Amino acid sequence: MKKLFDKTKINQMELKNRFVRSATWEGLANPDGSCSEKIVDMMLELAKGQVGLIITSHAYVNKNGQAGIRQLGIYGDQLISSYKEMIEKVHKERSKIVLQIAHAGARALAQSINSEPFGPSSLKIKDILSCREITTSEIFKIIEDFKNAAVRAKKAGFDGVQIHGAHGFLLSQFLSPFFNKREDEYGGSIENRARLILEIIQAIRSELSKQFTILIKINSDDFIEGGFTQSEMIQVSAMLESAGIDAVELSGGTSLKISKYSSSRAIKIDSKEKEGYYRDAAKLYKKKMSVPLILVGGIRSYEVAKELLEKDFADYISLCRPLIREPNLIKRWQEGDTKKATCISCNKCFVPTRAGEGIYCVVENQR
Ligand SMILES: Cc1cc2nc3c(=O)[nH]c(=O)nc-3n(C[C@H](O)[C@H](O)[C@H](O)COP(=O)(O)O)c2cc1C
Repeated sequence: MKKLFDKTKINQMELKNRFVRSATWEGLANPDGSCSEKIVDMMLELAKGQVGLIITSHAYVNKNGQAGIRQLGIYGDQLISSYKEMIEKVHKERSKIVLQIAHAGARALAQSINSEPFGPSSLKIKDILSCREITTSEIFKIIEDFKNAAVRAKKAGFDGVQIHGAHGFLLSQFLSPFFNKREDEYGGSIENRARLILEIIQAIRSELSKQFTILIKINSDDFIEGGFTQSEMIQVSAMLESAGIDAVELSGGTSLKISKYSSSRAIKIDSKEKEGYYRDAAKLYKKKMSVPLILVGGIRSYEVAKELLEKDFADYISLCRPLIREPNLIKRWQEGDTKKATCISCNKCFVPTRAGEGIYCVVENQR
């Protein structure tokens, strides 16, 4: 039976336990997207806190794909060296670190990119989103950008990359029939909507060896009327499996007002049943797929994390907000203090991040 502190391997990446820090935009990168000392310190704290696998903030693969202020970037070779200190320090603590590579697409930060954002199709939703349609040659450039980002990640010393295919950013927009109304080979059927992601994986694999770890984060559901659904998630997962993906992280929703649920739900998680809010999708995934599943979303207690593994809902337990408040949570649990995480899922951590002050737990800070 799977246990939380099992030693495991994803591709060549040896992990000391089954805990993952889910990608978290810290708003602490240098203005050019390079890694700052503050991020190094934060990742070191997580590694000392016994997180087995750290996934960085999403890092933009092209300047026109920046989603947030002070976000990490990986759009040029000049950024590679800025990551080395962080990776070395994390490795010294015997944790692993993967770079999340991303493009915001229609959700790019207008104030930073100096051009109109693009998505799979042109879309205008008042006060929410406005973008033009990406051209075919720009799609080919996106594939190159993701490939180059992965090559840079490898050169920097990362243990792998995670492709951000969730939360309504570019790759998730391609998967979603709500955003993707294309009539060419990148739109229409689910095979066509998944094509861009599959071509990115193929491009990375052809440049880097099979031993390089490639993970992906996808939505189990967009929770948008006319959007990507759970049954399509299963079809895409099968395609990812055939394409040789090493693990899938299952998430859901977007932070756009058109989604019924955001990926970081601001709900009171006061019962075990409310934890792990994609557990039904995970169960379905685990029935059909053999690629390891990293499950994120509202997991707050040791018992639930343990049960999700034991009942085979997941292979890895991924946490975001609990580790903002308690970077040492996993160490605390490992040492026997298995009280629930103190995070109350209020989402106030977004406030300083969006304001350019860098992430912290506002509630903890006010105590
Ligand atoms: C401040 C903040 C920043 C986030 N940044 C990212 C990101 O860069 N990439 C990503 O895939 N998800 C991001 N997320 C979503 C989390 O990784 C996670 O999927 C979500 O918060 C649910 O997990 P939790 O309940 O453990 O917080 C972010 C969430 C928060 C609260």
